[in-house]
Amino acid sequence: TPRTPVLLLGRCLALLLLTGAASGEDILIRGGTVVNADRQFQADVLIRDGLILRVGPGLKADRPGTRTLNAAGKLVMPGGIDPHTHLAMPFMGQVTCDDFYTGHAAALAGGTTMHIDFALPVAHDLLAGWEEWQRKAQDAVMDYGFHMAVTSWSAKVAADMAELTKKGVNSFKFFMAYKGALMVNDEQLLQGLRRCKELGAIAQVHAENGDAVAEGQQRVFDAGITGPEGHALSRPAALEGEATARAIRLAEFVGAPLYVVHVMSRDAMEEIGRARQRGLRVVGETVASALSRDESAMWDPDFDRAAQFVMSPPIRSKEHQAALQAAVAGGVLQLVGTDHAVFNSTQKRVGRHDFRIIPNGVNGLEERLHVVWQELVASGRVTPSDFVRLTSTAAAQIFNIYPRKGVVAEGSDADVIVFDPAMEHTISAASHHSAMDTNVYEGYRVQGKVVTTISRGRLVWHEGRFNITRGSGRFVPTPTHGPLFAGLERRAEPEQALLDAARYGGVPVRRAGDQPG
Ligand code: URP
Ligand code: ZN
Ligand code: ZN
Ligand code: ZN
Repeated sequence: TPRTPVLLLGRCLALLLLTGAASGEDILIRGGTVVNADRQFQADVLIRDGLILRVGPGLKADRPGTRTLNAAGKLVMPGGIDPHTHLAMPFMGQVTCDDFYTGHAAALAGGTTMHIDFALPVAHDLLAGWEEWQRKAQDAVMDYGFHMAVTSWSAKVAADMAELTKKGVNSFKFFMAYKGALMVNDEQLLQGLRRCKELGAIAQVHAENGDAVAEGQQRVFDAGITGPEGHALSRPAALEGEATARAIRLAEFVGAPLYVVHVMSRDAMEEIGRARQRGLRVVGETVASALSRDESAMWDPDFDRAAQFVMSPPIRSKEHQAALQAAVAGGVLQLVGTDHAVFNSTQKRVGRHDFRIIPNGVNGLEERLHVVWQELVASGRVTPSDFVRLTSTAAAQIFNIYPRKGVVAEGSDADVIVFDPAMEHTISAASHHSAMDTNVYEGYRVQGKVVTTISRGRLVWHEGRFNITRGSGRFVPTPTHGPLFAGLERRAEPEQALLDAARYGGVPVRRAGDQPG
């Protein structure tokens, strides 16, 4: 049966317009424990005009009509920032079915108050892609930023990257997979890495060996395997490890920081760990699905169930899952996103006779905070402060919008959640707020729940009800030259090091014009 979230949201909106409660009121959160990435402490939080006005003990509501929330026994944390989403994205012949309205509503219900979406070029044109994603975001209900994918190379692409940094894009994604579609080759990647370094922008990679994936897919399909399990079989972890290592080496070669998106395997994670041990500026992002789901679902006899789990790189075995959890707890990987890219059952069915054309992507924008809490905090692997860092602060810092976002502090945007660690709940497509008809977390039990979400000072989700306004979300520009670039200019230029290496041991180099001797 078709679900009607838009209708439900529409009703909530009508209610909101009647009560006129959208903005203007102060909010006082009393008696809670504020949890930031650096520490947790008892404090009240007073919110006014979209900002956090005061954080401290015994705050009083000094204006009439202040909305007071009792947070005794609850945690008051910065809203989640999802660094990796694909709302309303055309991909593999379909368009992801959560747009900037349904996706944002879902996010807010799960305590995420900002995301950074991947804009795609239109016919390889970056600025056209930017325009297109601006249009999509007119429906925004919460704050958002953009990464831009780079899917080709030319002088125009290089110029457009500079143009986009002026508009507030500080990160560019290069796909090393999706051959014949989004994939770039090593030469294009190198050019892109060099340009990112020049611009002070973050180079991001989808690290899988796309040539080998295409071959693996053909071999598995030719062997007669057509179902979703073919997806898992055809692109093993080695291909992710190889591309991750290659991207790291190429970034090292040009001296650029590197951000590896959706780390799904031990292989890729260990490459990142080694790079960091060597002092390289490499950031690893994993996703909620990799920390909590495993590949066995792709063998489910029910195609619809199995196909839901098809994303790239693939969700892997429990052993990979455990290694990734440990790496997040141990600081080898720095943050957790979702890669929310949702295709409903009808859309997934396009690939019912060929796993190669099942549109890739899983849900998570609404579930991420709860899943990370359950897997990592409820299990005792990380502290609540680590949780805040992994789901919010690290993204704000890396993408250079901290402390505007990512912390409960005076002067910061009032993107704040109240989390009740005692409230157990179960995730289900029947009760989620995404436009999806399925949920890869169906039946997943969570100890704890986001009970209140405040987005730039507006109470948008409270006690199970929305209070949202279409178009109220704002673009948050992400400035270049963030922390990943601090002091980078003082490091020896790798290309100079290449020339220096030729002189090691006092061996002179032969230069153009020298007499051969
Ligand atoms: O399967 C995935 N990950 N779909 C979204 C596109 C991407 O590679 O991030
Ligand atoms: Zn509703
Ligand atoms: Zn990707
Ligand atoms: Zn993605």
